[in-house]
Amino acid sequence: MFERIDYYAGDPILGLMEKYSADSNPNKVNLGIGIYYDENGVLPVLDCVKTAEERIADPIAPRPYLPMAGLPGHRKGCQELLFGKDAQILKDGLVATIATIGGSGALKVGAEFIHDWFPQAKCYVSDPTWGNHIAIFEGSDVEVGKYPYYDKANSSIKFDEMIAFFETLNKNDVILLHPCCHNPTGMDLTQAQWDTVLNVVKARELIPFMDIAYQGFGEDMDSDAYAIRKAVEMGLPLFVSNSFSKNLSLYGERVGGLSVVCPTVDETDRVFGQLNATVRRIYSSPPSHGGRVVDIVMNDETLHEQWVGEVYAMRDRIKAMRLKLKSVLEAKIPNRNFDYITRQNGMFSFTGLTPEQVERLQIEFGIYMVSNSRMCVAGLNTSNIDYVANAMADVLKD
Ligand code: LMR
Repeated sequence: MFERIDYYAGDPILGLMEKYSADSNPNKVNLGIGIYYDENGVLPVLDCVKTAEERIADPIAPRPYLPMAGLPGHRKGCQELLFGKDAQILKDGLVATIATIGGSGALKVGAEFIHDWFPQAKCYVSDPTWGNHIAIFEGSDVEVGKYPYYDKANSSIKFDEMIAFFETLNKNDVILLHPCCHNPTGMDLTQAQWDTVLNVVKARELIPFMDIAYQGFGEDMDSDAYAIRKAVEMGLPLFVSNSFSKNLSLYGERVGGLSVVCPTVDETDRVFGQLNATVRRIYSSPPSHGGRVVDIVMNDETLHEQWVGEVYAMRDRIKAMRLKLKSVLEAKIPNRNFDYITRQNGMFSFTGLTPEQVERLQIEFGIYMVSNSRMCVAGLNTSNIDYVANAMADVLKD
């Protein structure tokens, strides 16, 4: 009966995690999945989260179903983080926000919404992008295309080509953008470049869909949201999916949000209603535990401040690892330019290694990175960085 079912080849990122766990090499290093490990190689529980957990546990409360849109405090937390605490559009009620099952859940609900209400729209993603972007939109029967983004030869952005491409798109086509810490390349647009992109979006009446999974890991909470806030300032309709997996270190709790910025209150109500309907037919309502943590941390001034400090400490440690990696590699291979490592932002570095070199790192050294050459810099620490740099130098030299 099920013989005709295709085998699943596995996910290129999540599958690496399983391979890494099964590897018996005592020196193995996990630089595959986008997870932040601390200086001791441990997945941290943030102090602000510990406090929130203590409050949730005392007393242990009943667990009713949440509303389809999730907890109001979770939704408010998403809105203030993305748009700014005092944003006028929030006061004016022009943002429909639902709490979602991680950033992936937000993308899925958004993709379904686009499929239902903008059936002609195609969705364009950066070349390259996070693989699941393509899978999620195609899974909702939205046709996906790619726009030029990364110039491998020069480790830079093909900005002019990208803009020229956007100029060819049709009204209501969706462009999926990464406001900060581009996944997988780590190469971000400057603020001036964002202005140019958004002018084209406005002129051609495109729909920007901004996926922000690393807010706080680039420059800071506000600068990382520049593109979002600029789009709002320009009066553009806008979809934003956000994730708390990385910046609250709540990966397994699956907490995120989907926000849609609308021109009028009436449209906001309509959109909010349809987002609820979409949630109902996929998973009914979100789980409550992670949402309660988000609610507590985002809405308690002291915890919020503590949280921002904890995110910046993670950001700074990653930046220090970039500097160190660059300097060791430069010393080992002086005729090669490694500037890209410190020009990239967030958790990832697109190293430019060939798939064969990536495979050698895995087989010979137990060092795991994604086959497209993406390294999670957040998996480096002072104990493993020399080992990794030496191994990289080895495979680059041969
Ligand atoms: C990543 O890109 O590694 C993360 O976003 C985790 C994932 O689900 O792929």
